[in-house]
Amino acid sequence: MYKVAVVGATGAVGMHMVKVLQERNFPIDRLFLVASEHSAGKRIAFKDEEHEVVALRDFDFSSVDIALFSAGSSVSKEYAPKAAESGCIVVDNSSAFRMDDSVPLVVPEVNPQDVDWHKGIIANPNCSTIQMVVALNPLHRVNRIKKIVVSTYQAVSGKGLKAVEELKNQSADVLSDKDVVPEQFPHQIAFNVLPHIDVFVEDGYTKEEMKMLNETRKIMGDSKIDVAATAVRVPVFIGHSESVWVKFEGEMNVSRVKDILKGADGVVVVDEPSAAEYPLAVDVAGRDEVFVGRIRRDLNDPLAILMWVVADNLRKGAATNAVQIAELLVKRGKV
Ligand SMILES: NC(=O)c1ccc[n+]([C@@H]2O[C@H](COP(=O)([O-])OP(=O)(O)OC[C@H]3O[C@@H](n4cnc5c(N)ncnc54)[C@H](OP(=O)(O)O)[C@@H]3O)[C@@H](O)[C@H]2O)c1
Repeated sequence: MYKVAVVGATGAVGMHMVKVLQERNFPIDRLFLVASEHSAGKRIAFKDEEHEVVALRDFDFSSVDIALFSAGSSVSKEYAPKAAESGCIVVDNSSAFRMDDSVPLVVPEVNPQDVDWHKGIIANPNCSTIQMVVALNPLHRVNRIKKIVVSTYQAVSGKGLKAVEELKNQSADVLSDKDVVPEQFPHQIAFNVLPHIDVFVEDGYTKEEMKMLNETRKIMGDSKIDVAATAVRVPVFIGHSESVWVKFEGEMNVSRVKDILKGADGVVVVDEPSAAEYPLAVDVAGRDEVFVGRIRRDLNDPLAILMWVVADNLRKGAATNAVQIAELLVKRGKV
């Protein structure tokens, strides 16, 4: 049995971490719920017991075996190394350490072996990247992927609880002809589509788009894969959708792709276009798998395939993946 802390336990991802730990019956003998001082004293239920939230500033990690961090990059940068130094293993959901060469970046269906070389911190990848690599890695193992062109349709919950409230309030405001004042997003998100997630960096890309390139290469262990991403925020509460074009080294046909994906760990194929069946954000909310449909060939390129990939960003894109990493640590005797 393990002593587990959830840091950011009152947030969109943290609350799901607590839920997923309970659902998967993770072997916990003591659970610590940690957040900012504003939430200290709040109570959150876990397995029929109310647990009091404590402030991170006063928290002592030396009695914790595994800490799941989900309180943003600046909090992780300051506290995760301290927690690791005091002997606890940190699974960090922020972008703080993902591209650090001394920190494994793990999706359990893709690179479980990478937990073995952790030095106290393991990074949980970006939500859009997780669902894409779960769907693509089984194909890459059979026929090397050379290039991916992806456009994302990302839910507002990917930006936290305040962003969820903003979509609710703005939708009501727009419907009642009130003025809209964007706070969490650069523009109105209700009834709108924003090709802008995170900050702009070099060459006209956003940081979110660069994460999809760099993290995919690190997780799949192939520095030659090209990823051209356009990350887009849409007025959806839960569930990121992705339109993915993939080019392989050799020819690939649709039935082979479907066969491989039907047998792949963590993937569900939903692909009956004639019956209007394909993955939808509203259907995948609350599920832990990655859903793939609309699998079709590129009519002008025998080496390329298109598909539609959808997953719950708060679960497989964040909380479930982090808990699966903790399970891997236990299974592989690394905690
Ligand atoms: N949402 C997603 O789909 C998703 C997916 C992948 C990764 N992530 C990453 O996960 C992290 C959290 O995201 P979220 O969506 O859960 O955000 P959120 O809903 O805004 O929650 C933030 C959490 O962090 C806590 N926190 C903030 N500042 C803190 C501080 N100084 N000390 C201690 N705790 C502090 C908050 O506590 P209080 O309630 O006390 O303020 C809250 O529990 C971010 O790094 C985000 O990039 C999110």
